Amino acid sequence: QKLKISLDQIEKGGYDHFMLKEIHEQPKAIIDTYRGRMLPDEGIIRMSGIDNHMNKFLNAERIIIVACGTSWHAGLVGEYLIEDKARIPVEVEYASEFRYRNPIITSKDVVIAISQSGETADTLAAIKLAKSKGAFVFGICNVVGSSIARETDAGAYTHAGPEIGVASTKAFTTQITVLTLIALKLASKKGEISKSELRTFLQKMQLIPKKVEDLLKIDEKVKEIAAVYKDAPNCLYLGRGFNFPVALEGALKLKEISYIHAEGYPAAEMKHGPIALIDENMPIFVIATNKGHYEKVVSNIQEIKSRAGKIIAIVTEGDTQVKDIADHVIEIPETEEALTPLLTTIPFQLLSYHIAVMLNKNVDQPRNLAKSVTVE
Ligand code: G6P
Repeated sequence: QKLKISLDQIEKGGYDHFMLKEIHEQPKAIIDTYRGRMLPDEGIIRMSGIDNHMNKFLNAERIIIVACGTSWHAGLVGEYLIEDKARIPVEVEYASEFRYRNPIITSKDVVIAISQSGETADTLAAIKLAKSKGAFVFGICNVVGSSIARETDAGAYTHAGPEIGVASTKAFTTQITVLTLIALKLASKKGEISKSELRTFLQKMQLIPKKVEDLLKIDEKVKEIAAVYKDAPNCLYLGRGFNFPVALEGALKLKEISYIHAEGYPAAEMKHGPIALIDENMPIFVIATNKGHYEKVVSNIQEIKSRAGKIIAIVTEGDTQVKDIADHVIEIPETEEALTPLLTTIPFQLLSYHIAVMLNKNVDQPRNLAKSVTVE
């Protein structure tokens, strides 16, 4: 028994749970994912899966991203990145819907399938369907040699290392890292961004792992916030632009491991429904980074405050406006707006983790959930 416990502890690298270990592995996982692929000072991105099929991407009438769960959220960030940077139309689909809705797919489509495990049955079926219609299929997987990695025409691995916790953390940030590289590579090839813009962007990207590391030090503060809201029956997560998918992912993390009902919404959609739920018992997590439609999100925050909702805001370092109105603020370091999902998602991961621990839930193996869903 003693030996078993110590082996278990060794596996968790001194952390109480795999999830916490994996949250803390993110700076390294992000570096492992971009290492050898980007040369910031030269403004070069090398990804053989893209390089070898560049014409497929450049001639694509659209890119369709298919995925499930957290990977689907990463796909949404990918849509914002690829459209904004590379100016190629992108659609993001739940693999389970895509495979059964008789979608229009042609040989001019490029399908990007995203999957941590590489074994998700719906995603695998979506790939087979897309291939049968002649589309070029590119995979973004974590598990090397997995079914999806084998089934796709080309791909790029996230080098996150094994992810054991059912709630996905480092897989998400490394998927976003790969999608950012793809968006920038295509943007640069299409001439949508100049060499010097690419260089500047990549130099900022290179600073992200250190910023994530600094951000992980706010753990105690997040714990205090978790203690205040751990008994809330419902929570709302709001974000806009690149951070709208992060709001969805924040809500998913809380649901998965703490079993608290949570919903993610684009901030501006709040007035079309969720606002009716707001009262003094409703914690609302808002991402209000300084460049992402900041003023508009601030006015959402004011609307929430005037209805007595509790606000926990994620802001950029040095923010003063939101600080005055929010109940709690968590600061993230300054960076390009398109890179903020890699930072804003960290406090949400920690928050869900601490709430689940405080509620005595099984963090690494939440009830009813599986790490890899190989059935429909
Ligand atoms: C399951 C897992 C999630 C994951 C989803 C998609 O629901 O619990 O964490 O996001 O499957 O998995 P995949 O391996 O395809 O990314």
